Amino acid sequence: MTGSSHVSKVWAKTTDLQVVSGHGCRVVDVNGVEYLDFTAGIAAASTGHSHPRVVQAISEQAGRFIHAQQNVYTHDLLEPLAGRLAEITPESIDTFFFANSSDEVLEVAVKVAKHATGRHSIIVLDGAFHGRTHLTMAMSTSRSIDRAGYGPLPSGVFIAPFPDPHASDQEAEISAALRGLDRLFATQVAPSEVAAIFVEPVISERGYIPTPAAFIRGLAERCREHGILFVADEVQSGFGRTGKMFAIEAHDVEPDMLCMAKGIASGFPFAALGMRRSIDDSWRVGSQGGSSNGNPIGCAAALATIDVLTEPGFLDNVHARGNQLIDALREMQQLDASLRYVRGRGLMVATEFDSADRAVAVVGHCLRESRVILMPAGTRGRTVRWMPPLVVTSEEISEAVQAFGSAIRATS
Ligand SMILES: Cc1ncc(COP(=O)(O)O)c(C=O)c1O
Repeated sequence: MTGSSHVSKVWAKTTDLQVVSGHGCRVVDVNGVEYLDFTAGIAAASTGHSHPRVVQAISEQAGRFIHAQQNVYTHDLLEPLAGRLAEITPESIDTFFFANSSDEVLEVAVKVAKHATGRHSIIVLDGAFHGRTHLTMAMSTSRSIDRAGYGPLPSGVFIAPFPDPHASDQEAEISAALRGLDRLFATQVAPSEVAAIFVEPVISERGYIPTPAAFIRGLAERCREHGILFVADEVQSGFGRTGKMFAIEAHDVEPDMLCMAKGIASGFPFAALGMRRSIDDSWRVGSQGGSSNGNPIGCAAALATIDVLTEPGFLDNVHARGNQLIDALREMQQLDASLRYVRGRGLMVATEFDSADRAVAVVGHCLRESRVILMPAGTRGRTVRWMPPLVVTSEEISEAVQAFGSAIRATS
């Protein structure tokens, strides 16, 4: 395909597969070969590939109307979806702006934070990933390749330290990171100029690092003290991925805003910004919009997705499968000392090797020999991440772990 392809080559490829269909955790390629997909399209296909209820909702909606532009008229799925989101998001979140992608939602969160606070700067955490537009690039420090050659990036974005997850004294590490934030307030940007702090409850692209509870509490305290908005970026960790509907629920923190995308509509391009009503009230009418925002097919896919995720026992399965996966991977650590860390929450799990070459070799072996699709991640590419569709079964977890074990033995 390469020489004659009309498709941009910009994508860094994990596999060369061309997929023609998908169901649950499986995808089938153009040669009719089936693969076990433990990427869920980077944690987006939350209910699995082509979940029948999501397919039905999309098909029915496509037959009613495909597009309804919100400046021109509203449509009959916007309020039901907003109402449903208000039920499943944290108490503080009760008003929603719909968008098309993660990047857009992050951009919009910054815009409304500026209107709500009258302040111009924001703070992000070192190693976080928030997107690929100019502003969200400036907010992202998980890998320099994502920013290289694109500068200068927008100003007004300050980067606060993130505690080293593998430091032996976690308490001291977290205190040091919080002192670093206080120093940033004293030396670079006064807290009275900061509109919002953006927090990933599980740091995503740097390699699935759960943000420590005490650190999140410390950030939230500083937000309260200085009138700064606490924004949870749950683009990747939301919609059941960590075994809770939203990862921030594990912490005693009510976010002021919540960024949602990926799993919200089972992989259909759709996104939402949840916020306190008072924040929306401060937003100047007419100062934000978009042709396709709140697309009715996206709304239908999101409503069906939420129905599936809220079925009794659904999140219990995510929790149980996550524990099964982490336990099995920790056993694998006995096989090979170069598998240095196993960490994660629910079905957002990382295995970190001592080199990127090893991670790539293991991922390649899993694909070639076992037809299991895994994906590397992390600042130095040493991490293999596990993010299957949330409908994954116990047998599928065992199948993937077995493939990983064979790959570890074959590549050591
Ligand atoms: C936390 C977080 N925010 C934003 C994004 C950007 O999402 P997208 O790649 O869909 O634009 C990602 C993508 O991985 C993410 O994990």
